[in-house]
Amino acid sequence: MLLPLLFLLFSPLSAAELCHPDDKSTLLEFKHSFSNPNPFPTWDPTFDCCDWYGVECNETTNYVIGLNIISDDLNGTIPTVLPKLKHLQHLRLHKIPNLVGRIPPEIGELPHLTYLVISWTNVSGPVPDFLANLKSLAYLVLSFNRLSGSIPPSLAMLPYLYAIDLSRNQLTGPIPESFGHFANTAGFPALDLSHNMLSGDIPASLANVNFSQVDISRNNLSGDASVFFGKGKVTNTIVISRNNFQFDFSKVSFMESLDVLDISHNKIYGSIPPQITDAVYLQFLNVSYNRLCGKIPSGWKLRYRSESWDNTSFFHNRCLCGVPLDPCK
Ligand SMILES: *[C@@H]1O[C@H](CO)[C@@H](O)[C@H](O)[C@H]1NC(C)=O
Ligand SMILES: *[C@@H]1O[C@H](CO)[C@@H](O)[C@H](O)[C@H]1NC(C)=O
Ligand SMILES: *[C@@H]1O[C@H](CO)[C@@H](O)[C@H](O)[C@H]1NC(C)=O
Ligand SMILES: *[C@@H]1O[C@H](CO)[C@@H](O)[C@H](O)[C@H]1NC(C)=O
Ligand SMILES: *[C@@H]1O[C@H](CO)[C@@H](O)[C@H](O)[C@H]1NC(C)=O
Ligand SMILES: *[C@@H]1O[C@H](CO)[C@@H](O)[C@H](O)[C@H]1NC(C)=O
Ligand SMILES: *[C@@H]1O[C@H](CO)[C@@H](O)[C@H](O)[C@H]1NC(C)=O
Repeated sequence: MLLPLLFLLFSPLSAAELCHPDDKSTLLEFKHSFSNPNPFPTWDPTFDCCDWYGVECNETTNYVIGLNIISDDLNGTIPTVLPKLKHLQHLRLHKIPNLVGRIPPEIGELPHLTYLVISWTNVSGPVPDFLANLKSLAYLVLSFNRLSGSIPPSLAMLPYLYAIDLSRNQLTGPIPESFGHFANTAGFPALDLSHNMLSGDIPASLANVNFSQVDISRNNLSGDASVFFGKGKVTNTIVISRNNFQFDFSKVSFMESLDVLDISHNKIYGSIPPQITDAVYLQFLNVSYNRLCGKIPSGWKLRYRSESWDNTSFFHNRCLCGVPLDPCK
């Protein structure tokens, strides 16, 4: 009875160690690549690395499959040793203000990566084209960094990608035409490119995509954003505010699933189609600061009557009238 217990007590390195030695030495290289003297105090070589802070191991194989690092005082660049973690599926580097430099090419050498988050850091340089080598990638979040340059069209070729969040960077150039042809036709992609400096017309190809969510607000995009609408789609969020869009809103048809609609601060003209009242789940609506005209539809059949919009949702248009604005003449 006592023997196994004693064994555990006296040889922590051999008996309790589930972590693979190669993974452990890679994690130690990862740790030592930062300039801090001891960035992760729990990453103690005498303990099983599967128990270290932010390290996730597969419960059967004990290979390291995830790294989730949040740190206020980590200094340096993204470590290039990551491809040595051959089974890595999840990588999250979040809220690390002193993480700087570019996204290194080694990030493109993680064939099993499904989840990549580098957010709230000072990482700069481009959104690299080599991310298209991550054939398993499903979820890509690079928001709140200092990334610049244009969006690589190759991202749309990733067969499992269904969420792309590149918001709050300094990205320029257009939305790639290829984003109308996502290789992953099984899912409903979510796209967040908001708070960048993107420009150019919206590619017509985007009309083909059944997005679950679209937020491209606060850019300098132009053209016809009616491509995001369509009665048969499953989209729940359309936020295109603060751009340069000019199109006829009268011709838009609304999906029943729509929950959030913000088209404010554009140059959108025409009237608000009465069919908008088919959007029975709508909870947030703002069409202010456009060039809309005509009567605001009435007869809403809202499932969750929340009254989350008021006259400021409609004001600053050319000649909208009716409740909640002044009566039509
Ligand atoms: C990390 O970088 C910041 C900003 O450059 C600096 O103030 C701080 O002293 C550095 N800390 C370490 C541990 O290197
Ligand atoms: C852990 O590895 C086993 C064997 O390869 C695999 O079947 C299982 O799906 C893995 N679990 C996770 C959470 O990746
Ligand atoms: C980037 O660095 C600046 C100054 O060093 C800091 O104020 C800012 O919070 C950092 N950004 C992020 C997202 O951490
Ligand atoms: C936005 O794009 C328009 C052309 O569509 C251009 O004239 C204008 O200078 C751009 N504004 C900014 C802030 O880049
Ligand atoms: C969007 O997806 C729904 C649900 O699968 C489907 O019924 C609809 O036909 C699709 N619409 C378009 C335009 O692809
Ligand atoms: C909006 O409504 C508030 C009160 O409900 C009113 O005080 C305000 O003048 C209205 N503004 C406009 C632009 O109609
Ligand atoms: C609608 O957007 C305008 C412009 O950004 C803003 O002033 C107003 O408060 C918003 N109204 C609602 C109800 O969100």
